[in-house]
Amino acid sequence: MAATIRPQSVRPRRSVLYMPGSNARALEKAKTLAADALILDLEDAVAPDAKAMARTQVCDAIKNGGYGKREMIIRTNGLDTAWGLDDVKAAAKVEPDAILVPKVNSAYDIQQYEAVINDVGASDKVALWAMMETPLGLLNAQQIAATAAEPGARLAGFVMGTNDIAKDTGLRLTADRVPLLYSLEVCVLAARAYGLAIMDGVYNDFKNETGFADVCAQGAELGFDGKTLIHPVQIDPCNAAFSPSKDEVQWARKIIAAFEEPENADKGAIQVEGKMVERLHAEIGKKHVAIADAIAELGGNV
Ligand code: COA
Ligand code: MG
Repeated sequence: MAATIRPQSVRPRRSVLYMPGSNARALEKAKTLAADALILDLEDAVAPDAKAMARTQVCDAIKNGGYGKREMIIRTNGLDTAWGLDDVKAAAKVEPDAILVPKVNSAYDIQQYEAVINDVGASDKVALWAMMETPLGLLNAQQIAATAAEPGARLAGFVMGTNDIAKDTGLRLTADRVPLLYSLEVCVLAARAYGLAIMDGVYNDFKNETGFADVCAQGAELGFDGKTLIHPVQIDPCNAAFSPSKDEVQWARKIIAAFEEPENADKGAIQVEGKMVERLHAEIGKKHVAIADAIAELGGNV
C-alpha cells in the first residue's frame, strides 16, 4: 500500500542558495538573485557570537519580505545546542515556507521539532525540512521520511549535508562522489517513498566551473530536485542542469498527446516515433511538463 503523503505543490527547487544569517549584504543581494529558494542560515555559517544578531536579522528579513516568489527557508541550530530552541520558536513565529533543521538522527527528532513549531501556533503551511548528514540519520532515512505520513506532519523535504557526512564518516569528497553515492541514493529513495522534496549537498570549490557542472549533472541523474548552493555564481548553471530540457518537454507532450488519442484509450503500450512507450512514460512526462510550466511561471520574477 502506498504511504499517505503531505500534499506538495509542484515547485521548482533547482537552486537553493545558503547565506549566513549574519550577512546583511547577502540577505539583501538575494532579493535580486535567480535562485528558486533561499536558506537563511543560523547554524554553521554563523559564528557563536553572532547567533543572536543573526536570528533577529533573519526573522526581520522574512517579516519584511521583498523576496518575490522565492521559497524562503530558515536553517536553525539544533535543539541540542544553546540556540536551537530560541531559533525554532523565532523562526516558527515569522512563518517562512520551511524551517530546516540540522543533524536529524531519528523520527523522534522530527517529532521534537514539530512539537516546538506547533506550540508557537505556526500555520500548517510552515513545512519542516531535515538535514540528512549524520551516520545515524542516514541509516534511519526511511524512518525519518515516514514521519511525513503521520496526521498533521510538517516534514516535506530532505537536504543532503555532504560536508558533515564526510566529517562524521571519514569518507572523502572525491570529484566523482563515488564514496557518497550510497548516502545520497538511500535518501533519494526514502524521500520518494514518502513524497518529500530532496536537494543535493553543496559544492565547496565554487570557482571550479567544470567540476560544478559535473556534480550538478550527476545530482540530476541521481534523482534530486535540485542542489544547495553557497555562492551566486552557482545559480545559473544549477538552474540549467535541473531544468527539464526542451527536448524532454517536447517528447513528454508528444507521449501525453498520443495516449489521449481515442484509438489509444484502451492501450497500455504504444509506438511513438518508432519507440515503445507505456503509460508510465506519460506519467513521467506529466511531471516534466508540470515542472517546466512551474519554471516558466516563475519567469523573470525570480
Ligand atoms: N548569498 C548571497 N550573496 C552572496 C553569497 C550568498 N551565499 N555569497 C556571496 N554573495 C555575494 C557577496 O555579498 C558579493 O556581493 P557584492 O559584490 O554585491 O557585494 C558577491 O556575491 C560576490 O561575493 P564574493 O566576493 O565572490 O564572495 P565572498 O568572499 O563575499 O563570500 C563565501 C564567499 C563563501 C564566504 C560566501 O559565498 C558565503 O558565505 N557562502 C554561503 C556560506 C554558507 O551559508 N554556508 C552554510 C551552508 S554550507
Ligand atoms: Mg551540516
